[in-house]
Amino acid sequence: MTKAHIITYGCQMNEYDTHLVESQLVSLGVDMVDSVDAADFVLVNTCAVRGKPVEKVRTLLGELRKLKHARGLVIGVMGCLAQLEEGQQMARKFEVDVLLGPGSLLDIGAALENNGRFWGLQFKDDLHDHVPPPPQGKLQAHLTIMRGCDHHCTYCIVPTTRGPQVSRPADGILRELDTLLAAGVREVTLLGQNVNAYGFDGGRRVPGIPTFAELLRMVGASGVERIKFTTSHPMNFTEDVVLAMRDTPAVCDFIHLPVQSGSSRVLRRMAREYTRERYLEHVETIKRHLPNAVLSTDIIVGFPGETEEDFQETLSLYDEVGYDHAYMFIYSARPGTPSYHHFEDLPREVKTERLGRLIEKQKAWALRKNAAYVGRDLQVLLRGDAHDAAFLEGHTRGNHPVVVSKAVGADRPGIYTARIEHVTPHMMYGRLVGADGELLPELPRFTPEAAALANPLPMA
Ligand code: SAH
Ligand code: SF4
Ligand code: F3S
Repeated sequence: MTKAHIITYGCQMNEYDTHLVESQLVSLGVDMVDSVDAADFVLVNTCAVRGKPVEKVRTLLGELRKLKHARGLVIGVMGCLAQLEEGQQMARKFEVDVLLGPGSLLDIGAALENNGRFWGLQFKDDLHDHVPPPPQGKLQAHLTIMRGCDHHCTYCIVPTTRGPQVSRPADGILRELDTLLAAGVREVTLLGQNVNAYGFDGGRRVPGIPTFAELLRMVGASGVERIKFTTSHPMNFTEDVVLAMRDTPAVCDFIHLPVQSGSSRVLRRMAREYTRERYLEHVETIKRHLPNAVLSTDIIVGFPGETEEDFQETLSLYDEVGYDHAYMFIYSARPGTPSYHHFEDLPREVKTERLGRLIEKQKAWALRKNAAYVGRDLQVLLRGDAHDAAFLEGHTRGNHPVVVSKAVGADRPGIYTARIEHVTPHMMYGRLVGADGELLPELPRFTPEAAALANPLPMA
């Protein structure tokens, strides 16, 4: 096992964990390679939140097993699926050598020592003390501030895969932040399943750990230019976080606040522990203190028992909030969750038809929201070349994806000002503006409209 490759599914937490394991492997003398073909050890970092990512892993493991028989490839599975019986069965079937649950990632060293025969499924407390080396040459980085989740939303497998919530002490977070800043990182995203509950593990205040609002202010004092965070849970949402955002210039006016459903009846069956009204009060608080706040959400369509009236309430809530963006999911019954065992799934056609209507709503709002930025100057973090190298791609402070044409003296990754000239529901296109407020001369003669043609949209 001298050349390893990691394939990552799932959320930003998995991306962070992939980086953590990669850096561990490198420190143990293993080379990271960028393809399965070049590797003698392939690790799959898995997601179990919906059926689709699980099926992708199953297919992939089938392919990897062939390589194992053909040339002795060592196969590893890490992440959320590894923690579940479903994943362990799969691991046995596909002759997986290394299995690491989300709480045992640092056992990768033991796996190497054991020549790639190792199953680690405990939730250990060593992860929070561990500061991985910073990613190289990146302007953006993730920073895990807590692991696990104390909620029990009836549809969700995450509390099973990632265990109960454990907040990371602030000194580890700030030490890691320092290494990121020294490596040139200019935007950090603080990660947790429920950042609003940071410092309150098992519902109780953890001595010596600040609240999330306090942590935001501490991170803001570090000198990092842009701070984002995800995910906020409406149940634990408090005004002090909005005030910390308002008072801390580095914190972006962007809140991802998953609602899941606009119907209080469905929310109760989901055990989300808030009502439609309570959620709208939070939105009101946000808009009062942060009039330019960009709001995004997660919505599950077709939860068991969701009626057309319930779904209409989701549509009307969307209009009341006026989201800039939403991630929309068809309900997926996950073995091991209460809703899988106690509720009956709706017919597939009902779910997909509702999703279609919601997507139309999402697109219309995104276009309307994005159009309001046309002609305005926004701070953009451009992380690298777009699909067409005449352009750079990145994000605004409100997390909108942007593509801008390279300009004289501004043709490499960095933080710039861009004038938005053209938008679609999924993308903003613009030109770079100098310190004097004038458009910078473009490198070749590309326009934002040409950018739209040259840079196909990401999947809706
Ligand atoms: N802790 C975060 C969510 C993490 S999972 C939160 O509570 O907001 C990310 C999203 O996946 C959830 O917000 C939910 O919308 C979706 N999701 C979770 N379980 C699902 C399931 N069984 N079917 C469909 N979508 C699901
Ligand atoms: Fe899942 Fe709910 Fe926890 Fe989010 S808060 S990870 S949806 S159980
Ligand atoms: Fe993330 Fe999927 Fe696990 S969404 S927390 S990788 S189940």
